[in-house]
Amino acid sequence: MSFTPAPWPRKLRSQEWFGGSSKDAIYHRSWMKNQGLPADLFDGRPVIGICNTWSELTPCNAHLRDLAERVKFGVYEAGGLPVEFPVFSPSESTLRPTAMMYRNLCAMDVEEAIRGKCMDGVVLLAGCDKTTPALLMGAASVDLPAILVSGGPMLNGHFRGEKVGSGTHLWRFSEAVKAGEMTAEEFVEAEASMSRSPGSCNTMGTASTMASMAEALGMALSGNAAIPAVDARRRVMAHLTGRRIVDMVKDDLKPSDIMTKDAFENAIRTNAAIGGSTNAVIHLLAVAGRVGIDLTLDDWDRCGRDVPTVVNLMPSGKHLMEEFFYAGGLPVVIKRLGEAGLLHRGALTVSGGTIWDEVREVRNWNEDVILPVEKALAKSGGIAVLKGNLAPLGAVLKPSAATPSLMRHRGRAVVFEDIDDYKARINDEDLDIDESCVMVLKNCGPRGYPGMAEVGNMGLPPKILRKGITDMVRISDARMSGTAYGTVVLHTSPEAARGGPLAVVRSGDMIELDVAARRLHLDISDEELAARLADWTPHTKAPASGYASLYHERVMGPETGADFDFLVGCRGNAVGRESH
Ligand code: FES
Repeated sequence: MSFTPAPWPRKLRSQEWFGGSSKDAIYHRSWMKNQGLPADLFDGRPVIGICNTWSELTPCNAHLRDLAERVKFGVYEAGGLPVEFPVFSPSESTLRPTAMMYRNLCAMDVEEAIRGKCMDGVVLLAGCDKTTPALLMGAASVDLPAILVSGGPMLNGHFRGEKVGSGTHLWRFSEAVKAGEMTAEEFVEAEASMSRSPGSCNTMGTASTMASMAEALGMALSGNAAIPAVDARRRVMAHLTGRRIVDMVKDDLKPSDIMTKDAFENAIRTNAAIGGSTNAVIHLLAVAGRVGIDLTLDDWDRCGRDVPTVVNLMPSGKHLMEEFFYAGGLPVVIKRLGEAGLLHRGALTVSGGTIWDEVREVRNWNEDVILPVEKALAKSGGIAVLKGNLAPLGAVLKPSAATPSLMRHRGRAVVFEDIDDYKARINDEDLDIDESCVMVLKNCGPRGYPGMAEVGNMGLPPKILRKGITDMVRISDARMSGTAYGTVVLHTSPEAARGGPLAVVRSGDMIELDVAARRLHLDISDEELAARLADWTPHTKAPASGYASLYHERVMGPETGADFDFLVGCRGNAVGRESH
């Protein structure tokens, strides 16, 4: 990919605020000077926004104020003026009804803040799951030079001699309690050991996946994804990112130069190789929509099919992000893809060079963490995209997290109409269910929940867990936490709340799943299906007002990224002049 840097010096966008001696310019500079900034900082040098999702209510990002200071060091050193600003911070662990419902709100905030304020480029500080895609989406819609630095994962968790992974062990311990293998007191005792340092989830959950996606897309410096949050090298990464963005502004290297179709294909293959989260599907589709790249579910299936999962991290494998970093991190995986002919080597990155240039010299320091191909966790690690009369617009399944013997399965549906119905009946010892059944959960998609909750890996009934069975086929229009596992069909589309076929499945129907054939079939006649759909009425009422009503009305389906229909595309950085 060839990129020609813009000539330098030239007049930058920020000079529309700060340049000259007009009344407006004096007004703008005067207010900024109340922060103690010397006059020469407004002399035409790059003004760098630091878009910060810091929040004490987003614990995964609570250390980002410190990283922002490191970014500032780098910006000043390189001759820029750093200006930090906050944006709405959707937290996976504390926000209701779901953080996903607020991803688009955050992306809107980011876009309008970047465009409306006096900056020439922006450093995106993200960590928790939704913050990374939201920042990429917002920045892509403005298309000023942008670079992402992640907060980094937490240190490994440890509990009674066992390595404990964020989320993954929450599910495991919770099922152990249900199965009578762990006491409730032990479960509570384990909670502090799961989250013992600043940072994001330490598994290859959605946060680590999205940090990896940003790096594979070329939107972060090489090596960014895996450095632990508390490792001094995380601060160095922030510092170097601050230096780099100043040169990106001078060169006018923009997200649209970097996030090409090749870059997205590199990211999809990387996701397969790392055993990344199914949430990456939705988020990358949404980011691609912002840069005008025609990315589809079929691209996910096509690009991921031949890629083995070689990163041995929970939830698919056994290690955690700390080991991944010590083994060499994502650059090793990208190099592996390049050597296998599975990488667009010429894809441009924020470095100004190619992705291949960044990784060609790296080495794998631990072959139990980044496995040789012959020991891959899954031969075909890509996200499987299923279609059929139950999912006309598609559904996804993560083969590396599924049970091989269940990948081809026919079973009797046990239907839960919504999450409350599931919670009310799942522990009932009289529930008519056995391990051959297919659990079906409806009305948990973008519109239905609302916000497409991470409940697709619904826990099994206690009476089945007590038999020692840990997996069953489960189908829903929900998402699944990137830290979760199981033979779980997700994002079934159109969702039940839009009247998709999932809405009319009844307990007792037979369902066929065939992952190799990419098939998801409800075994009733076409006539019966058509008659049931004609009879369908919505299960949930549309919210009457507020953000929830906007979300309900304008959110699109997961097959296109669940963005708002009116936010798709790049709107550039032009902004009208105010007058005083
Ligand atoms: Fe924030 Fe996992 S809950 S990164």
